[in-house]
Amino acid sequence: MYKPETIKQLLERNPLNDSVTVMGWVRTFRSNRFIALNDGSTLTTLQCVVDFETLEDGLLSQIHTGTALKLTGLFVESQGKGQSVEIQVNNLEILGTADPDHFPIQPKKHSLEFLREKAHLRIRTNTFAAIMRVRSALAFAVHQYFNSNGFFYMNTPIITGSDAEGAGEMFKLSNTDFFGKETHLTVSGQLEAETYAMGLGKVYTFGPTFRAENSNTSRHLAEFWMIEPEMAFYDLEDTMELAEDFIKNTIGYVLEHCKEDLSFLEQRLTDEDKTKPENERSPMLLLEKLKFVVDKPFIRLSYTEAFEILKYSKENQKKKFKYPISEWGSDLQSEHERYLVEKHFNAPVVLFDYPAKIKAFYMRLNEDQQTVRAMDVLFPGIGEIVGGSQREERLDVLELKINQMGIDAQELWWYLELRKFGTAVHSGFGLGFERLVMFATGMGNIRDVIPYPRTPQNAEF
Ligand code: 4AD
Repeated sequence: MYKPETIKQLLERNPLNDSVTVMGWVRTFRSNRFIALNDGSTLTTLQCVVDFETLEDGLLSQIHTGTALKLTGLFVESQGKGQSVEIQVNNLEILGTADPDHFPIQPKKHSLEFLREKAHLRIRTNTFAAIMRVRSALAFAVHQYFNSNGFFYMNTPIITGSDAEGAGEMFKLSNTDFFGKETHLTVSGQLEAETYAMGLGKVYTFGPTFRAENSNTSRHLAEFWMIEPEMAFYDLEDTMELAEDFIKNTIGYVLEHCKEDLSFLEQRLTDEDKTKPENERSPMLLLEKLKFVVDKPFIRLSYTEAFEILKYSKENQKKKFKYPISEWGSDLQSEHERYLVEKHFNAPVVLFDYPAKIKAFYMRLNEDQQTVRAMDVLFPGIGEIVGGSQREERLDVLELKINQMGIDAQELWWYLELRKFGTAVHSGFGLGFERLVMFATGMGNIRDVIPYPRTPQNAEF
């Protein structure tokens, strides 16, 4: 096995009565004797017992929360309560000190807001280490899922010139001279992914995406990671099927592989809920909620069916919605989505066949000429987690739409050519990775599930 060994590997190997070496950061140090050491590989801290009488002078006074240590000693069954094994230290090396008067991550409760300002150190807390391990496992599950289902991983450009997605406000790049045209950071890799699906069959992207919307909410970032599968010969039904199966699989993966971290996060959420008014508390425990999503089929209904439910709901009749539902064709607000998911169905919901007017130009027009083959997956506590569609593969219809929406067709010459050369039914969707991480970890603010959040007026670190 490759050395140095992590605490996780050591605990799995369990080399009783062997001499072992570990490195990590002190979480707590009590009675001048017991060091709880963590190295990030697992939530579990390793108890390391030092004999202060034989310890070199001056070493003891440098062991504080946050100090980096290298320890060698005998790995033995623990005599104490609270842990099954421990290291009886016979050699201790201070790698780096952490002055307790200045190191901000002390063993006490810190607010998430405080930790956001210490984003470079918050990974030394159990909460953030657990979140980021789950995030990493989810990313792995994403690649594993697509890889085992015949998809190819592709990378779409981050700097793009096509001003066509219509997904959101763009960050413009200032040096127009360099490319000889206006460019910006991508809001979605979809259009380029479509070109690759029409040659490789099934592809997916997983990359950074940028939106300059000035929405300071708990669910929006200016820089987030999006997963965008795109499939030739898939219609909308196939795509809804895929989105559901994909989400169930990735959540299933972390349920199986991140038990310790998820249990910790569940407890954190339960403790946090106790500080909230009853009606704001989560109705299910975290693990229960994740299992629910994996086991239960998602509810599917059309925009029109959802519109009817909302229109005749008590909330609407009693004018409780901030945006009353009156006319077919208006966009659904998050209060409406929440009503459907959290009150009416109490399950994840897939809405499809949205009014053409409120959706992007590339979505396939239905026979009724009013709706398009679009779908959104709505999740409890999260809102929209997936947005996707069957793409308009008919050149004449696409050109008409582009004209009607006042989009510059010249910029999209290559996208239109796809419809001239071997066009076929195809579809895809985008899933906001941070929203998936929020759901899996039970965190309520998207700023806490990405290492360095980018939001309006905030680009520190
Ligand atoms: O619904 P959106 O805008 O869809 C697209 O961009 C399509 N081109 C995707 C496709 O069909 N290939 O975004 C997709 C998802 C949303 O459902 C949401 O989960 C996430 O991306 N998202 C954001 N996540 C964090 N911060 C933001 N500002 C987000 N905007 C969208």
